Amino acid sequence: MKEDLQKVADIISNSKSMIAFTGAGVSVESGIPPFRGPNGLWSRYDPQCLDLDYFHLNPVESWKAIKSIFYDFFGKASYNGAHKVLAQLEEKGLLKAVVTQNIDNLHQEAGSKIVYEFHGNSQKLICLQCGKIYLPSEVNLDELPPKCVKDKKILKPDFVFFGEDIPEVAYRKSLQAARAADVVLVIGTTGEVMPAAMIPTEAKRNGAIVIEINTEESNYTDGITDFFLQGKASELLEEIYTLIN
Ligand code: APR
Repeated sequence: MKEDLQKVADIISNSKSMIAFTGAGVSVESGIPPFRGPNGLWSRYDPQCLDLDYFHLNPVESWKAIKSIFYDFFGKASYNGAHKVLAQLEEKGLLKAVVTQNIDNLHQEAGSKIVYEFHGNSQKLICLQCGKIYLPSEVNLDELPPKCVKDKKILKPDFVFFGEDIPEVAYRKSLQAARAADVVLVIGTTGEVMPAAMIPTEAKRNGAIVIEINTEESNYTDGITDFFLQGKASELLEEIYTLIN
């Protein structure tokens, strides 16, 4: 493993257009459970709470799960060493962008400037009638579903539900960054959900070296991954960072 770490550190040091593609695993050490796996959120909540049709038909039930998952403790989570190292790599000019599937805002809080949020961000609620945007702190989530002060319509978290389109700008910029990448760090993702999961594959197709960091194997490991570093994202990224000159 040690020689792999030095090899990976050298690849990163010599990269010209590296990107990172992150999933829920990068935030697990911030106390946010992943969606899948033994203690995953989808083993405790029904993912239909994030199905757009279900949300419109059952706003109270949907909002009860959404509040519990994304607002009751997401809000208190802070970034961890993995987010910090990615921000430091950007600072050093070695990381051009983070493409994240996460909606927890932790990359930005760690200092990353170029973050493409494939699934939006939980820090905004939107009125589907008038489009007014609210911060979670501006609405009372003890009365569900939260409603727009202007037209009393139900507010929706401004992140991507199953059945919803990916934000056009994030999609386009993520694809551009992936196609231009010479290295892609794939961190903490099962690679289960399309179209996000095709970002590393698109980078590989255009010649990128794929470095994967995960505690378990993923859909990428036996396929496109060139270097598989098994372990916790913060520990491995912090160790790699010490090896970068
Ligand atoms: N360090 C690195 N990887 C970790 C860690 C850790 N400390 N802990 C868990 N992991 C890995 C798991 O092994 C798993 O591969 O993180 C991954 C989490 O996978 P998922 O829960 O499926 O999360 P993700 O891949 O981001 O899911 C994609 O699914 O439900 C939708 O919209 C949701 O964005 C999410 C999408």
